[in-house]
Amino acid sequence: MRAFFIRRYGGPERLEEGELPPPPLGPRDVRITLHAASINPVDWKIREGKARALLPYRFPLVLGNDGSGVVREVGAEVKAFKPGDAVYTRLGKDRIGAFAEEVVAAEAVVAPKPARLSHVEAASLPLVGLTAWQTLTEVAQLKPGQTVLVHAGAGGVGSAAVQLARHLGAKVVATASAKNAELVRGFGAETVVDYHSQRFEEVVRDVDAVLDGVGMDNVLRSFRCVRPGGIVISIADGPDVKFAREYGVKPLLWPAFWLLGAKPNRAARRHGARYRYWFMRADGEQLRHLTSLVEQGVLRPHVDKVFPFSQTREALAYAESGKARGKVVVQQVP
Ligand SMILES: NC(=O)c1ccc[n+]([C@@H]2O[C@H](COP(=O)([O-])OP(=O)(O)OC[C@H]3O[C@@H](n4cnc5c(N)ncnc54)[C@H](OP(=O)(O)O)[C@@H]3O)[C@@H](O)[C@H]2O)c1
Repeated sequence: MRAFFIRRYGGPERLEEGELPPPPLGPRDVRITLHAASINPVDWKIREGKARALLPYRFPLVLGNDGSGVVREVGAEVKAFKPGDAVYTRLGKDRIGAFAEEVVAAEAVVAPKPARLSHVEAASLPLVGLTAWQTLTEVAQLKPGQTVLVHAGAGGVGSAAVQLARHLGAKVVATASAKNAELVRGFGAETVVDYHSQRFEEVVRDVDAVLDGVGMDNVLRSFRCVRPGGIVISIADGPDVKFAREYGVKPLLWPAFWLLGAKPNRAARRHGARYRYWFMRADGEQLRHLTSLVEQGVLRPHVDKVFPFSQTREALAYAESGKARGKVVVQQVP
């Protein structure tokens, strides 16, 4: 199969295009002919080796974490899918490889593609949608009437989080560039703070939860916006010891995680709030739920640009440049 892969960690030049043998199919696996795959920041973090402590991989490693396509073959014990089914998936973190013509995924991480979405639109949702859903429902346990501050409301995770938080009955304040304010209001944000012209911590007060995918400076400033007992959730920076333990990181590495989480945990204590770093998980059941939310019109994808599969390098470079206004998707089958 044609694929984009790396043989060692490094910059964009490490990404090779070539033929690799298709992955083997286990009894509970589904082989998917991919029609589209989305680009996520974790793709270049993995390529650079920045996620090495959490995601140890063997080479050659096909990059790409989520996608949409058609089931070609199923393992002997697979019950939920049959060849010909249109599906989408956030691949298991140990078995990524969506920048390829086909992929093999555990049945447990696959869900039926929302019928109203194209493969391109569907491919853009699993990773960001699941991240938003898990942080809002499992970590923040957001209740109707509460208020959440969603940073980067125009981004992949942010745009899904704004829509899902509204669906959960919360009031949403979001940060975004002025040019994206209308878009983010359209997703359901009541207030949009232009992070270029205003310091959000000067205008946002007493929210119940904050979701941050921007970085540590944003996380630390966010504690000024949260009510006592509220929670600041980080998904970009600051994995701490609590997370390392739960995730199963070797104890030898815990001191490094203690250091990474020291500042936000100190800020949480100072403000009487809680801090949590979250690393999303692949989950086919939850993805089925997102499918139903898409069908109900609650959640819609936000695709900026589509590249042909042969231009996966260009697609990654475009997404990495930070210029995208929504998700970037590569298309294996036009
Ligand atoms: N831990 C996890 O499980 C997990 C899961 C998914 C993603 N992540 C991480 O979360 C981060 C975001 O991912 P993503 O897919 O949502 O990225 P993305 O779509 O590439 O985010 C781009 C958006 O960030 C916004 N942005 C940039 N700087 C900002 C700032 N200072 N304040 C507010 N918004 C800002 C931009 O908004 P404007 O265009 O409006 O300026 C742009 O829309 C990445 O670091 C990613 O690796 C982690």
